[in-house]
Amino acid sequence: MSVLQITTGSSCDTEALGESLGSLLQPGSFLALRGDLGGGKTCLTRGVVAALAPQSAHLVASPTYAIMNSYPGNTPVYHFDFYRLTGDDDIAELGFEEFFYGDGVCVVEWSERLVELLPADVLTLRFEYAGDDRRLITITGSGQKSDNVIERLSERLQKQKKL
Ligand SMILES: Nc1ncnc2c1ncn2[C@@H]1O[C@H](COP(=O)(O)OP(=O)(O)OP(=O)(O)O)[C@@H](O)[C@H]1O
Ligand SMILES: [Mg+2]
Repeated sequence: MSVLQITTGSSCDTEALGESLGSLLQPGSFLALRGDLGGGKTCLTRGVVAALAPQSAHLVASPTYAIMNSYPGNTPVYHFDFYRLTGDDDIAELGFEEFFYGDGVCVVEWSERLVELLPADVLTLRFEYAGDDRRLITITGSGQKSDNVIERLSERLQKQKKL
């Protein structure tokens, strides 16, 4: 299990982190976002979409009411927000699992709501307030694929002197 911690100082920094991360993802990658309300989950997602489906990046907004937004592109991004759902039962009923193992990248806000439906190998990103506009973002891998992404992200951020 790999762990990487990054503090961003602005929403632009968080979006740039999402773009670096997004460029390392493959179809089937899964990002489980969790943590503070207003922590920057949607902001990071905008960066991920900028990397994978740039023609759709301007469309990224909170899907709180829609539950899912899909952003077509080279690699499609399926963006979920499970804030209003209560757990696996609701989510299974809505039939979202078919996207979890599909042709795109899944980004799930409020992934705390997923219990048994969470795939085994995921990147978990926890967002915490760290004073003013700072956010502490902790990225954890839970398998070979996600650990490999963390390793490559860490190398890239070190090169850019962001770590
Ligand atoms: N370092 C930072 N990273 C990200 N956002 C920041 C940062 N500093 C300030 N902000 C502000 O915090 C807010 C983050 O909003 P965003 O919608 O991305 O959060 P969220 O985690 O998706 O919230 P929610 O839990 O409601 O879905 C924005 O208003 C953004 O401008
Ligand atoms: Mg959000």
